[in-house]
This record gives sequence, C-alpha cells and structure tokens, in this order.
Amino acid sequence: MSRIIIVANQKGGVGKTTTSINLAASLAVMEKNVLVVDCDPQANASSGVGIYQDDVQASTYSVLLDPSSARDAIQKTSIPYLSIIPAHQDLVAAELELVSKPAREYFLREALLPLKDEYDFIIIDCPPSLGLLTLNAMCVGEEVLIPLQCEYFALEGIAKLLQTYGLVRRRLNPGIRLLGVVLTMYDARNRLSRQVRNEIRNTLPEHLLETIVPRNIRLSEAPSFGKPVVGYDIKSKGAEAYLQLAKEVVLRRPQA
Ligand SMILES: Nc1ncnc2c1ncn2[C@@H]1O[C@H](COP(=O)(O)OP(=O)(O)OP(=O)(O)O)[C@@H](O)[C@H]1O
Ligand SMILES: [Mg+2]
Repeated sequence: MSRIIIVANQKGGVGKTTTSINLAASLAVMEKNVLVVDCDPQANASSGVGIYQDDVQASTYSVLLDPSSARDAIQKTSIPYLSIIPAHQDLVAAELELVSKPAREYFLREALLPLKDEYDFIIIDCPPSLGLLTLNAMCVGEEVLIPLQCEYFALEGIAKLLQTYGLVRRRLNPGIRLLGVVLTMYDARNRLSRQVRNEIRNTLPEHLLETIVPRNIRLSEAPSFGKPVVGYDIKSKGAEAYLQLAKEVVLRRPQA
C-alpha cells in the first residue's frame, strides 16, 4: 500500500528537510521504493541528496505548471530505491503564478496521484510557510508529519498549523490525517528540551511519536556532501534515530 506523507511546519529551521530526506533514505534502506518531492524554493532537500541547481531541468515548478510532466521530472539519487522530484529556486514564482488559476490548490495532486502506485512512500518537503505550496502539498498528502524543535513557543507554532490542517480537512482534502509530531534537535542535557517534551506529551499525547531525533552533528554535516546521513555515517546517533523513525512510521497508522 502506498502512502503520501507531507513534512510541514511553517516555522523555519525546525528540521523539516532533515526529516524529509533522512526518513526517506531510511525507508529506502528498508527497500521501500521512495519518492521525495522538494516543494521548497530553497531546494535544500534536492542538494541534500546530491541534486544541485545546475542539474535541475524539470522540477517541482515545471510539474506545477504542467502536472502531466511529473514523471519526466523524477531523478534517481545515489541511494538505491530513492528518487526525487527536485526543486529549483524558480519555484518562488509558482506561488504567484498559481494564485490566479482555478482550483489552484490541486495542481500537485493532479501531478502526483498518477505516480502513487509506483512508490511505497511519497514524501513531500514543505517550505516554512502556509502558502500555496504547502496547501498544494496538503491537498495531495494523506498524512502530515510535523517536526518540532524543543524550544519556547513550539506549541504556539503548531496551533496555527493544526488550524490550517483542520481547515484543509474540512474544505479541500477530507482524506488527510495527522501522522504525528516528531521532536527534532533534542538535547537531553538541556532542561528546556525536557520541559517542552513533557508539555507536548501532556497536550498531544496521542500524536507524539516515540522516536526522538537528537541534536547530532553528522545530520548537519551530511547535506554538504550531498548525502542523507545513512550514506554519510550510518553508525551515527542521527542515522540511528532516523532508521528508528522509519520503522515507527512503517508500523504507525495516522490518527484523525
Ligand atoms: N537533529 C539535528 N541535529 C543537528 N542539526 C540539525 C538537526 N536537524 C536539523 N539540523 C540542522 O538545522 C538546520 C535546519 O534544519 P532543516 O533545514 O532540516 O530545517 P527546515 O525546517 O527544513 O528549515 P526551513 O524552514 O528553512 O526549510 C540545518 O542546518 C540542519 O542541518
Ligand atoms: Mg527545509
């Protein structure tokens, strides 16, 4: 059964891209056929798997303008079982170009649904905003995974995201569900990290994933080599955490 997971949080720098590529690569290590869709003009997910701006012809941008071209935009990565529809910085323009079109939230859906059965997982990396790109992702997504950094105001940030999710579910994509919240960049020695973890455990008990991703330098180094962490240092704590997350995601079913 194939699953479409979107990785979203409008707050910047909370670990969306790190989670997208490393969850995807860990699922690929489990021999799941995985497609990453880079939906962020920063194109960090693309460079993070070794696809750089100069190599990008067809991209999420061209796919949004012509959904029937999605298959041509897929590129293989150095990790077996892992492919990507890369982003190019021109994706910023898509947001403006889509605004005036009818059913502007559904272009990515039109592009990806025909590919769905060819993959076990499609993982969409969203930009740090709740604009049209994230809405397009939410309209094709079946499950939302929310990376959360343990810091002050973390919960206030996801309140707005959950509100948007609720709206999308009522109006645009009734099939969408919450896969859960994954804590990222966790530092067990830091009292604030522990406090925020406990607060989230109390507020969203059914939504907090068991796997907690620690702060790990290997995770931040790997992208500069164009590799997910499993291709860079598979023995690191970071790789261990994302392999664990992949196992949890395979077993977990999303909640309402
Ligand atoms: N567990 C971790 N340990 C150490 N560094 C991390 C970890 N997770 C992410 N980082 C680093 O933190 C920074 C932000 O992470 P990332 O790019 O994944 O966030 P993002 O939510 O995608 O950001 P944006 O909102 O800009 O798209 C990056 O430099 C990344 O390498
Ligand atoms: Mg990102």
